[in-house]
Amino acid sequence: MLLREATPPGVFTWFFRSSTVAAGVTRSLTAPASASDIEQRLATEHYIADRALAISLFLALKLRRPLFLEGEAGVGKTALATAIAGALDAELIRLQCYEGLDIGHAVYEWDYARQLLELRILEATGELDRAGAHRELYSDAFLIKRPLLQAIDPARRRPAVLLIDEIDRADEEFEGYLLELLAEFQVTIPEFGTIRATQPPLVILTSNRTREVHDALKRRCLYQWIAYPTYDKELAIITARVPDAPARLAAQVTAAVQELRREPLYKVPGVSETLDWLAALTALGRETLDVDGVEHTLGVVLKAKDDIDAVRGERLAAILQRARA
Ligand SMILES: Nc1ncnc2c1ncn2[C@@H]1O[C@H](COP(=O)(O)OP(=O)(O)O)[C@@H](O)[C@H]1O
Ligand SMILES: [Mg+2]
Repeated sequence: MLLREATPPGVFTWFFRSSTVAAGVTRSLTAPASASDIEQRLATEHYIADRALAISLFLALKLRRPLFLEGEAGVGKTALATAIAGALDAELIRLQCYEGLDIGHAVYEWDYARQLLELRILEATGELDRAGAHRELYSDAFLIKRPLLQAIDPARRRPAVLLIDEIDRADEEFEGYLLELLAEFQVTIPEFGTIRATQPPLVILTSNRTREVHDALKRRCLYQWIAYPTYDKELAIITARVPDAPARLAAQVTAAVQELRREPLYKVPGVSETLDWLAALTALGRETLDVDGVEHTLGVVLKAKDDIDAVRGERLAAILQRARA
């Protein structure tokens, strides 16, 4: 079995000295110096990270360990991967997990159609012997690289951010396959050999906790639970994301969502719903939150009929009163 690259992954090289021109502004990026540095950079990407999360990210980069993010839907797990890629000026490679996800879609696939065509040509020209043909047909040229392989491609000049999103949706066998990748930043392809990253990616895994993820996988990662944001954090998030919303409306919407999360709901609203709600009310020209406006837009924040039926009426009036206080 051959090893496709000579140098083992060395020191983690987030050596970004490149200049990028974004919106006419030239910025020079270097490796994050501290957790506060990460916090600030994420803020420029309109992502509000608290201290614990910034420290986890810093350590994931420093210790070259994958970061496993768990939390309810809509608390900002996926958005964090996008934001940190922006903050590091790194390419974001995303693998969305789903039931039945297999190696062929996640890691690599041989391009059978092209291999077959090539085989015909080789046969017709009689150019190669059997061993030569095998080498030729199972070479890099016929390998279709899927997200995981793209992220550890030795040809990569700079580390990428690899997002393995909603791992709890994939089958447990798939987790087993990830172990080698997460521990060694390498994958083994039987016909080809072992491919190992020279620029290991920053790996971010997320789970909405619809099932427990295996301990062996978690053991290889740093773990961070992302809770629903506090009032202050949520207000900061929506102010950053919907800057044209009236300040009073933003504060009241945040308070109302915080109140709603205390109700025994079937589907608790996430930050996405707060953002959508604020955007909807702003689009309708509302300056403050009133019963009428809420009644007409309740479907933006509550996504289950039972929840809407349960909240509508007196309970909603009480929630509003507390939110406006
Ligand atoms: N801390 C945060 N800072 C900025 N935006 C956030 C934050 N948390 C959540 N969001 C926003 O909330 C929405 C939902 O986040 P998302 O990452 O899709 O949630 P999850 O992946 O946890 O289900 C996105 O639009 C995201 O931009
Ligand atoms: Mg997500």
